[in-house]
Amino acid sequence: MRLILLGFVGILFFSCQQNPSLNNKTEELKIDQKVEELLSKMTLQEKIGQMNQYSGFMDFTGPQPDKGRTAKKLEHIKSGMVGSMLNVHGVKNVRAVQKMAVEESRLGIPLLFGFDVVHGYKTISPIPLAEAASWDLEAMKRSAEIAAEEASAAGINWTFAPMVDISRDARWGRAMEGAGEDPYLGSQIAKARINGFQGDDLSSLNTIAATAKHFAAYGFAEAGREYNTVDIGTSTLYNVVFPPFRAAVDADVKSFMNAFNVLNGVPATGDEFLLREILKEKWDFEGFVVSDWDSVGEMVAHGFVKDGREAAKQAVIAGSDMDMESYHYIEELKTLVEDGEIDEKLIDDAVRRILKVKYELGLFDDPYKYCSVERQKETLYNTKFRDDVLEMAKKSIVLLKNENDLLPLETSGQNIAVIGALADDKTSPLGSWRLGADEGTAITVLEGLKKYDKNNYTYSKGADVVTGEVSFTRELNVNNIDKSGFARAISAAKSANVVIMVLGEHGLQSGEARSRTRLDLPGVQQELLEEVYKVNKNIVLVLQNGRPLALPWADEHIPAIVEAWHLGTESGNAIAKVLYGAYNPSGKLPMTFPRHVGQVPIYYNQKSTGRPKLPSPGEVFWSHYTDEKNSPLYPFGYGLSYTTFSFEDLKVKNTYTEDNTVLISVKVTNTGKRKGKTTVQLYIQDEFASVTRPLKELKSFEQVELEAGENRIINFKLKDEHLGFYNTKGEFLVEKGSFNVFVGEDSQADLSNSFEL
Ligand code: NOJ
Repeated sequence: MRLILLGFVGILFFSCQQNPSLNNKTEELKIDQKVEELLSKMTLQEKIGQMNQYSGFMDFTGPQPDKGRTAKKLEHIKSGMVGSMLNVHGVKNVRAVQKMAVEESRLGIPLLFGFDVVHGYKTISPIPLAEAASWDLEAMKRSAEIAAEEASAAGINWTFAPMVDISRDARWGRAMEGAGEDPYLGSQIAKARINGFQGDDLSSLNTIAATAKHFAAYGFAEAGREYNTVDIGTSTLYNVVFPPFRAAVDADVKSFMNAFNVLNGVPATGDEFLLREILKEKWDFEGFVVSDWDSVGEMVAHGFVKDGREAAKQAVIAGSDMDMESYHYIEELKTLVEDGEIDEKLIDDAVRRILKVKYELGLFDDPYKYCSVERQKETLYNTKFRDDVLEMAKKSIVLLKNENDLLPLETSGQNIAVIGALADDKTSPLGSWRLGADEGTAITVLEGLKKYDKNNYTYSKGADVVTGEVSFTRELNVNNIDKSGFARAISAAKSANVVIMVLGEHGLQSGEARSRTRLDLPGVQQELLEEVYKVNKNIVLVLQNGRPLALPWADEHIPAIVEAWHLGTESGNAIAKVLYGAYNPSGKLPMTFPRHVGQVPIYYNQKSTGRPKLPSPGEVFWSHYTDEKNSPLYPFGYGLSYTTFSFEDLKVKNTYTEDNTVLISVKVTNTGKRKGKTTVQLYIQDEFASVTRPLKELKSFEQVELEAGENRIINFKLKDEHLGFYNTKGEFLVEKGSFNVFVGEDSQADLSNSFEL
């Protein structure tokens, strides 16, 4: 096997995109000069101030500080001891706080205002995992643009998004916030979202700085338990965890956020390997790194350092430039520098990075640029966003099952029973991480359906999903046992032509600190489903959830299943359009749906074992479960349409020796009776490698919309960046040998061909 060593730094896995705003080198030089000038005027205390970020008092997105601390914050802003605030939004609030920094501190350096604008500010888009199911990069970019436009109109200039963590574990609540399990898809989506938030020109009024988070491997928390230990091998780190972060750097993301976890024994916030060696040196990242909420202080609880002083020291040495809500930088850094324990050069480096972003945003030209009352009024909830958010929501829906073409439904003359608390909930579809949005602003499924007013609808709740107080910061009561609503639901179902059951998780059952051990329908919903099924089998199950669920009973019995996630403001309209066929579903799962929680972590791009196949019937010594299949319920990339597609003529033209390219083409035909869209997915397998490669790896995809009967040839190009991988030393290699290529509509695609490098 001949080895082509391409080197870690030189050959980029992702093509290096130049941000047009930074193409202008003179502009950049000017900013660098301004940064140096300002830096030279700053006292050590003022420099450390820039590295300090406090939470405001509007929302708390982490454990709350004691009251004494809270009182000090305003004083600190006025004395130049704060560089950024989070959780202050709305132009009135932002202007008031900005004024303190600009008009009362000695140097008048404007603050950055950060906020978790994850899937919208007021007008809410689908949760990121749902959007990822669209595989539509333009639509996701647009969704981020809308979020940036609204957030910037409300005073915010920096979002803590996108989360680019790969997640293979549906128990982890934050799977909802990412793009799923695949590093290639995740990288494309990371770039699209960053481009959407930041645009071509960061100094524009409607763009904001983005954050790639959480660096690194947060999605690999053991047992899917939030904030838990991460222990993964270097091959996974380089080939699965890093690529979306690397793509974020290539897209010129302005900041990175640390992860809460330890990675192989070292808290990410204090990890020099991650922050200095990889991010700042090898990837040449020019932005700044913000800690996660108190992740500097949490290094003590991790058992890594003994107190806040050591925590601050280790975090700065490692390369964490800004401290979110731990107070250790502001309290410890000055004496650490004065005592010679931290080189002031490290402080200067951090401050340079932070100031640079402030200049790029244009905050020094006008610190109140995002603080126009009129602009806020005309932008928030502007109806001009609604069509795009609706499009995004429709594209995010995944049709999981449609036996005997139960869907789409007839648009008239039907008695339809609508069952499930989520069908009539105006807040839950907003999902998690929609702190800026107002309760009750989502269109419900019931409202969406009723627009098709030639059918009759009877609604009954059946059972609650959660009971009691529902709040972002409080534990939810998820163990509802009240079945008193069953009788009404069953009676409504009896006389209906079709039953639409809207079941799943409340919007706040996923997200930060919302890990689960079970992937079923919470509370008594499964029982409700089975009871209704006894009286009417014509059920369309509409799922609303923030993670893959394991629903084998439903898959076996329920004729039609629609994965509708938490789709945001336009949720009900999007779902109704899909159920009635006004939109032909095109979503494809970005994460594997297991049969049982015991299979988790389950992901398509797994490696082979030494014993991958049943040798002969009845044998036991092969890699399997004794009580469940190995295969998932619904694989990565899967999703049906109201039409069907066939794939044939998979051709390979290998011109690698001439131009390092392998050309692939395939013929796709719409074999059904309707126009429809699918995502043509190309996977490869590097059969033998010096570090074993997955059985299949997604390397390209293309969306194609075809009329009934129409066909098209789709072409793909494989280059080194697709054919190679990182070895355990972080070197990028393309190895000679045989490759298989698979093309189809999901990760189980079996139309294949092969080539030799
Ligand atoms: C903690 C979360 O992990 C992070 O993603 C978020 O941005 C911060 N809190 C700020 O709210």
